[in-house]
Amino acid sequence: MREADCIVWGEYLLPMDDGVRVLRDGAVAVVGGRIAAVGTFGEVSRNYKAKKTIGGAGKAVMPGLINTHTHAAMVFMRGMADDLPLKDWLEGHIWPAENRWLSPRFIKDAVSLACLEMLKAGITTYSDMYFYEDVSAKTARQFGIRAVLGAGIVDFPTKTGSGRDDYLKKAEEFIKDCTGDELIVPAVAPHSAYACSPETLRMSSELAGKYNVLFHTHLAETKWERDEVKGKYGHTPVEILEAAGALEGRLVAAHCVWLTNREIELFAKKGVSVSHCVESNLKLASGIAPVPEMLKAGVRVTLGTDGAASNNDLNILSEMSTAAKLHKAVSGDPTALDAKTVLLMATRRAAEALGLGDVTGSLTEGKSADLIVIDLMKPHLCPVYNVESHIVYSARPSDVETVMVRGREVVKDGELLTADEDEILDKAVKWGERLRKG
Ligand code: NI
Repeated sequence: MREADCIVWGEYLLPMDDGVRVLRDGAVAVVGGRIAAVGTFGEVSRNYKAKKTIGGAGKAVMPGLINTHTHAAMVFMRGMADDLPLKDWLEGHIWPAENRWLSPRFIKDAVSLACLEMLKAGITTYSDMYFYEDVSAKTARQFGIRAVLGAGIVDFPTKTGSGRDDYLKKAEEFIKDCTGDELIVPAVAPHSAYACSPETLRMSSELAGKYNVLFHTHLAETKWERDEVKGKYGHTPVEILEAAGALEGRLVAAHCVWLTNREIELFAKKGVSVSHCVESNLKLASGIAPVPEMLKAGVRVTLGTDGAASNNDLNILSEMSTAAKLHKAVSGDPTALDAKTVLLMATRRAAEALGLGDVTGSLTEGKSADLIVIDLMKPHLCPVYNVESHIVYSARPSDVETVMVRGREVVKDGELLTADEDEILDKAVKWGERLRKG
């Protein structure tokens, strides 16, 4: 009999591992922050004696959800400017507010709210693109959430930098500062082919290659972007990234709505990962990404919320539901994006996209204990015929009972354990008052 720190079990266990679907009365043993065993509760408890047991009957246990594209700090711009086209929304409202308000204090308080929202919604890893990522890193560490933080790069001056060379220098310093961190993974995040010149994208790609970190960018989000970039440089945004040497396995491309068939084939060939931000694309009327076509071609597609100013929440459960339903309706095929497929997009595929395939994304022996327990004893979750379908089509953040990252319980009985929720909400209200006054 071996000692475990805890055993997490559920009436249903979804390992999201190759070849294993759902285990009835399944359990994992957690030792030193890692998953030491996966099996039925009977098997696991025969081999491991645990100090603590979490979960039980009427619960589902699965890997933590992964949000592959967001701007966490934008939660303070939630609902500030809605029902506008992307260009007006960004240039007329969001960028001016950022230029007025961004500061390390803003980032700390905003990222705290985002971490609270994401953890309580079962998100254990998020991939960010923003500024002051050193402050985000400190906050994410304190909350105990895993984060891939992309240092933002644009061609114009903002409150956080004077121009391309300054952002690139800051990104390099941030990458060096994160070396060896257990929870924080640095990335290079040039904003887009319309906010960065081809030369800036090339230099960003070189920097990502030098340190072997992710290259996270917005790509082919709107028709306006494609026409603007093509008019200016004579090439599509994807062609510009290809010329910059950025089309490869390190690239996580958010949106990818306006792609040609050749570009989809190219993504598959080069191992590019896509963050499908379906609710943001719907809300900003950016269009509908060709997800079934990308999946068919073998492209790794994952799910992102985008920032809360364009969504308006950080909820991967609802992204799964929306993506599954939208692509069925658009393709006229109700078998498109079935529950199992979108669950994989939100877990194992997402971990692979972020270069964390060996670390998280499935309940597999040796991986980090990043997992969630969902309470199924709710009116909208009874009875259970297919637990995967329930998680995708019926579950809500308020059903997430326990959240564990690296074996540390960060949410228990639906309450955050790593920070004071009331204090975070009070600060958010105060920031809202400041931003409203302008
Ligand atoms: Ni975005």
